[in-house]
Amino acid sequence: MRTTYLFNDRWLFAPERLGSDTPDARFEAVILPHTNKLLPYHYFDNAEYQFISTYRKRFTLPEPRAGRRVFIDFDGAMIACEVWLNGVRLGEHEGGFTPFSFDLTPHLNDTGENLLTVYLDSTERKDIPPYGYVVDYLTFGGVYRDVHLRLVEPCHITNVFVRPQNILTGSPTVAVDVTLHNAGDRPVPAAVSAALMDANGTVLATGSTALVTAALGAATHLSLEIHDLPDVTRWSLDDPALYTVEVSLASGDTALDRQAARFGFREAEFRKDGGFYLNGERTKLIGLNRHQTYPYIGAAAPARLQRKDAEIIKHELSCNVVRTSHYPQSPHFLDRCDEIGLLVVEEIPGWQHIGDSDWQGISLRDVRAMIERDRNHPSIILWGVRINESRDNEALYTATNALAHKLDPTRQTGGTRNFIDSQFLEDVFTYNDFSNSVIEPIHTPHLVTEFNGHMYPTKTWDQEERREEHALRHARVQDKQMGMERVAGAIGWCAFDYNTHQEFGSGDHICYHGVMDIFRLPKYAAYFYASQGDPARRVVLQAATGWSMGDRDTGGIKTLVVLSNCDEIDVFIGDECLGRFQPDRACFPHLPHAPFQVSMGNGHLTWGRALSDLRVVGYLDGSPVAEQLIAADGLPAALTLNSDDPGLIADGADMTRLVLRLVDRCGNTLPYANAVVWVEVEGPADLIGDNPSALVGGQIALYLRARQKPGHVQIRATTPRLAPVTTTVTCTERPSQERLRA
Ligand code: GAL
Repeated sequence: MRTTYLFNDRWLFAPERLGSDTPDARFEAVILPHTNKLLPYHYFDNAEYQFISTYRKRFTLPEPRAGRRVFIDFDGAMIACEVWLNGVRLGEHEGGFTPFSFDLTPHLNDTGENLLTVYLDSTERKDIPPYGYVVDYLTFGGVYRDVHLRLVEPCHITNVFVRPQNILTGSPTVAVDVTLHNAGDRPVPAAVSAALMDANGTVLATGSTALVTAALGAATHLSLEIHDLPDVTRWSLDDPALYTVEVSLASGDTALDRQAARFGFREAEFRKDGGFYLNGERTKLIGLNRHQTYPYIGAAAPARLQRKDAEIIKHELSCNVVRTSHYPQSPHFLDRCDEIGLLVVEEIPGWQHIGDSDWQGISLRDVRAMIERDRNHPSIILWGVRINESRDNEALYTATNALAHKLDPTRQTGGTRNFIDSQFLEDVFTYNDFSNSVIEPIHTPHLVTEFNGHMYPTKTWDQEERREEHALRHARVQDKQMGMERVAGAIGWCAFDYNTHQEFGSGDHICYHGVMDIFRLPKYAAYFYASQGDPARRVVLQAATGWSMGDRDTGGIKTLVVLSNCDEIDVFIGDECLGRFQPDRACFPHLPHAPFQVSMGNGHLTWGRALSDLRVVGYLDGSPVAEQLIAADGLPAALTLNSDDPGLIADGADMTRLVLRLVDRCGNTLPYANAVVWVEVEGPADLIGDNPSALVGGQIALYLRARQKPGHVQIRATTPRLAPVTTTVTCTERPSQERLRA
């Protein structure tokens, strides 16, 4: 039978190519996910992480091999590697965003020590997507995703694809496609069965195949159906119910393999009428693009940070869709999207450039790897099978579409372009619309996959008018698309600021295009998205102002913008109530929750007049439900320190975000505060990020990484003139059943 071990621990790393005779002392001990270079969050040269490095791991098999094959599975390593075992070169892999495996068996020492070596090339190789021309993002370097060691019988399962069917009828069924590989020395008569289980592991129904013969060497494909299901819950945005199919492979009485696939019962379809339908219900898509990179650690974020990004996009930004621009992203991110009900548009790696036929061959392989890895995720509603914003290429895109349809007949394809007369070879016309509006579709279905971005880069410490206008630009485009029957939705550029090459960005190697900054901390535009969520879940009330007299051109504030999902607001200056106001539905007729635009033309806010505190009270059904108070004195009242998580797993890789802010006496972040903060950590964890560091837009985040030792971690932050603040994080052992992932 199969056993799988998380293989992230006890690697050795050297930032150069070192032979197998080099002593271990020349290496640094590391744990995966690993970045080949820790960096500042901006103003660094991307040449710093572009080198060939050596990852080495000495290991003995964790259990007897007992005739099984042993594979090493990499979730992702940036961007190309050669893998060696015990002095023998096993092969190479090109491409940093999709998984790959090597069969270690022929050269394995079953009982003694093995030496595994990975030579990782993290340079921007022109022969590998996305490179060949300029690219507006950084790929960073490192074995930056998880690695597993897998022991399987010679005849084993290599892929399970679960296809729920007849979902909208009263009697859904489940088709299961299973791929077997027989690496043994004789054909194996085999039987495959499958059990459908609910989230508690209760078996609801089963199915099986007639006896098949797993041929030698080649893949064997077979399908089975599971009928007579009890009532199942559909996967939806509000109730993302998940089920599992566990597939078992046996030969006679001998169990050979078992593999589980999690999925959901849902139907997702872009229709010719222009709408997107989830379970037959028309659902306007509103979302943001996400890059997988983070400050300091590049792309090497552990599971917890990956999952947190999905939570931020769904719960903090109230989006119902995310586009994984411009490549397949972490399995942990996608798993969390499944669990919380966040739709995903996933695409192959690339950016504008199409290379030669070998390069295109890698793209086709990326289509296959992406779909074979991810087709069980109910959150994924569309495969992007074009290189983002590339020119038309009929041969290549006919091939990518055909391959996607063959590998997954249940999902439609898109392919993001930035010119409207592009050849339409996909099922959905996915279009980057930088018109500052939404153009009338030529083809349907039509999905806007980007807008805004470089049209209006905005920093958390930009002048207030710009930050407000940034929010309103997102609001205007989303409002427009919501009113257009023939537009399925719009995905803004982008969720988070990101590091980039010198050809792009603001000169410090950041594109300030996010509705949140690179630390995932909000700009006003983030509150626009948040305010589109249902107030029953979370009431949002944010005035787009720091309430000062002289930050805007000509002084004062002519129109106060409030981003909120309340029905009405009261605005007070000091004790004086300016009145009760309604959302500006004249400007934003289609949004679920139009921003409020309150005219302040009563002389209160003219240059040089006395200023009192601002108070905004939000109402739902006539009752007050939220209040924001902004101090007129603008003085820092406190440093705040928050950890996203109270606890970490003591595995040496787990991380949480520590957020530091300078706030006024009402708790509002002071956007121009750039004070220096020092952080001290006591206990078994390390700080990632610069320490001390200066606040950016009144806030900054660092990461806390657990060591491999349980214990309490005290974190203390100080800044001049204010009281120090502390918080605690507890690191605990990983539960033993999670260490071995069967
Ligand atoms: C698009 C591109 C994105 C990003 C964006 C900035 O053209 O697809 O990757 O560069 O522009 O607005």
